[in-house]
Amino acid sequence: MTSVNDPKQLRSGRWFGPDDLRSFGHRSRFKGMGIDDQDFRDKPIIGILNTWSETNTCHSHFRERVLEVKRGVLQAGGFPIEIPVMSLGEMLMKPTTMLYRNLLAMETEEVLRCHPIDAAVLMGGCDKTVPAMLMGAISADIPSVFLPAGPMLNAYWRDTTLGSGTDAWKYWAERCAGNLCEEDWKEIENCIARSAGTCMTMGTASTMACIAEALGFTLPGASSVPAVVAEHCRLAVATGRLSVEMAWRNRKPSTLLTAGSFANAMITQLTIGGSTNAIVHVIAMAGRARLKVTLGDYDAWSRKVPVLANIRPSGKHLMEDFHRAGGLRGLWTRLTDLLDLSSRQVTGRTLGDSIADARVIDEDVIRTRENPLVEHGGTCVLTGNLAPNGCVIKSSASSGQLLRHQGPAVVFENYPDLKKRIHDPDLPVTADSVLVLKDAGPNGAPGFPEWGMLPIPEKLLKQGVRDMVRISDARMSGTSYGTCVLHVSPESRLGGPLAWVQTGDRIELDVPARRISLLVDDQELARRKEAWVPPREHASRGYTWLYTQHVTQADRGCDFDFLEGGDYGKEPDIF
Ligand code: FES
Repeated sequence: MTSVNDPKQLRSGRWFGPDDLRSFGHRSRFKGMGIDDQDFRDKPIIGILNTWSETNTCHSHFRERVLEVKRGVLQAGGFPIEIPVMSLGEMLMKPTTMLYRNLLAMETEEVLRCHPIDAAVLMGGCDKTVPAMLMGAISADIPSVFLPAGPMLNAYWRDTTLGSGTDAWKYWAERCAGNLCEEDWKEIENCIARSAGTCMTMGTASTMACIAEALGFTLPGASSVPAVVAEHCRLAVATGRLSVEMAWRNRKPSTLLTAGSFANAMITQLTIGGSTNAIVHVIAMAGRARLKVTLGDYDAWSRKVPVLANIRPSGKHLMEDFHRAGGLRGLWTRLTDLLDLSSRQVTGRTLGDSIADARVIDEDVIRTRENPLVEHGGTCVLTGNLAPNGCVIKSSASSGQLLRHQGPAVVFENYPDLKKRIHDPDLPVTADSVLVLKDAGPNGAPGFPEWGMLPIPEKLLKQGVRDMVRISDARMSGTSYGTCVLHVSPESRLGGPLAWVQTGDRIELDVPARRISLLVDDQELARRKEAWVPPREHASRGYTWLYTQHVTQADRGCDFDFLEGGDYGKEPDIF
């Protein structure tokens, strides 16, 4: 990488340096905002992309935190400019934030490219904001450091610890089973989200923060710092300072990302028992970096990597505990034989350097290799005639006795059908049934929603059933659990074999053998394929139309086909 030694070589110099009418306009309008030459001339301009929004409950502290980032930028001799970008708040956005991940990725890429930005601080955290911003930054290839929002503080209900998402599903099942009164449920509602910040289980947000750190995009240790503690304020200031150094060093994503850093991302996801959603995001991010990651790569690592983080939904603890126990840096000290320690980080140092002084404080939260939560195969990739291009299951959050199972399918044609019939007392379902949901994939819903943890029918909940085999082309929340086969590819809406399943068909799940099979003979399947009628399209205009025309399947990362790769180094004309 080539450092920038002369301020005139800064990228922003193209906007502000020349003695011409266009640059006069740029400078004079900055001055119209009360900004003087001393503020910004010959200094790196740091774009702070802020996903704060009152629609995003997880980023509610970003309005204050951005002031700390700016303080760091100013301390280091840069000039900060804050740029609001689209926020993807998991709780309120419908039908699903995943529909909009690529839109934020496009916005991030174009915002970085079209403005006089020498380096960027990306402020995100809630699930899709992380991959979206990183995908955009990778394609724009402008020096970028990621500031994770940080997890919420641990929550408590009476004498019990509550983890967002995971315990909501758990206690909702108890409520449906008639074991929890309305007053108890209200109390849980009042305390399960204790502070600003992202879900404090190892859901998608925490998983993606860890992956951002594994790819080298954050300061060391940043992925688990709770959102509302003083350490997070100091992290924000330090991130601001670092961004200025990155501008001078021209430390672009293309100088960080290698096959080794993506291997580190996969290893990290597997050892933390991370969200299955991350598989899709890692494949998409690698695609932006022109590096290929496949489901096969994931499965190969899965056979070697133990789950060491004892965090919900796979384990017992929460992110605040993980941070106190040593965080990702501590965890990585246990996997030095697997990780690529030479991978570079935004600091300019290697991963090996950054864990040299790391340690584990609590061996129940971060297990040893001799005492793992799961020896290997915490997340598995399956194939078979039901999913020719693959599907995934988080076995670490499944019921062990169901990982080998054969049963009759109970099929729901789409989500409205599921909602209408799942709790029908006459539904022909037993604990052995395999619940199947169609039309919930990237194109199906549309947007690849988190419907993959199908609810257990109420009549079975009342009999004490708490898990069943469930299969869909949907995703599931990283905070979810259960024996749920997800991301079936190709999806049913595009005529994948899932579309041909009928109630009563037998399905065999064999996770140890990595197989998923529809036990219907080939002739009958060919007949059903012939008779299959594609559903009507969702939209004829607007963003949803663009999305459905160009989104790729789960095994390819669900990026838009025209966004894979990047226009590295392509600069806008300034006329
Ligand atoms: Fe934002 Fe879970 S809802 S991280």
